Amino acid sequence: MAKTYSIAIDGPAGAGKSTIAKRLAKELGYYYVDTGAIYRTVAYFLDLWGVSPKDIDNVNRYIDELTVGIEYDEDGLQHMIMNGMDVTGEIRTQDISQKASLVSAHPCVREMLLDMQRDVAKAHNVIMDGRDIGTVVLPKADVKIFLTADPEVRAKRRYDELIAKGQKANFETILKEIKQRDYQDTHREIAPLKMARDSVKVDTSNLDIDQVVAEIKAIAGKKIPV
Ligand code: DC
Repeated sequence: MAKTYSIAIDGPAGAGKSTIAKRLAKELGYYYVDTGAIYRTVAYFLDLWGVSPKDIDNVNRYIDELTVGIEYDEDGLQHMIMNGMDVTGEIRTQDISQKASLVSAHPCVREMLLDMQRDVAKAHNVIMDGRDIGTVVLPKADVKIFLTADPEVRAKRRYDELIAKGQKANFETILKEIKQRDYQDTHREIAPLKMARDSVKVDTSNLDIDQVVAEIKAIAGKKIPV
């Protein structure tokens, strides 16, 4: 099999990972793999069955009934398939964000999803974003970025996004949820969010999208053709 290139982008919620990764994937002709969407699909499935994300016994039991698939449409956008059903739109709620964070702490869930993530990277050039890509999923990724920003900046971005969509939003609530998710994602026992030793930190607090893309391309360009 031909050598494939991989760029791992890890970081907390709202740092801009998906916006940046999507742009880079388009520019470089890579597949964009949003691994958060995979955990969201698991959380959504369990929610449909009324299983609490903290109820380890039932999480274990019910996930045997779940098949998760990733498909790409003609625009290169990732679709999440839950037991044959496209749930891409359904998994993007604040409620599912929190539940995905809780459910992702269970070893059985992480183990079930590991190979599917690695298989995409074996077959294609990928930009993969998540929490443990550079540390666990693709420890040999060619380029590793840790994308972060101050919690207040991340909360403001989420707030602006919701307002732009015409939805109701409360800044303080969003900030509280972001901090709670940061805590859960960094303190779990298995594959917590942390910087890989060989990753480069990019703080996006005072940068716009073009600046972040340029900075990551400059970092990546030292390791791979960009
Ligand atoms: O990136 P996101 O907000 O869509 O991720 C939702 C949750 O999924 C996140 O709070 C923690 C979990 N997650 C994970 O544990 N590992 C990943 N590689 C990606 C997401």
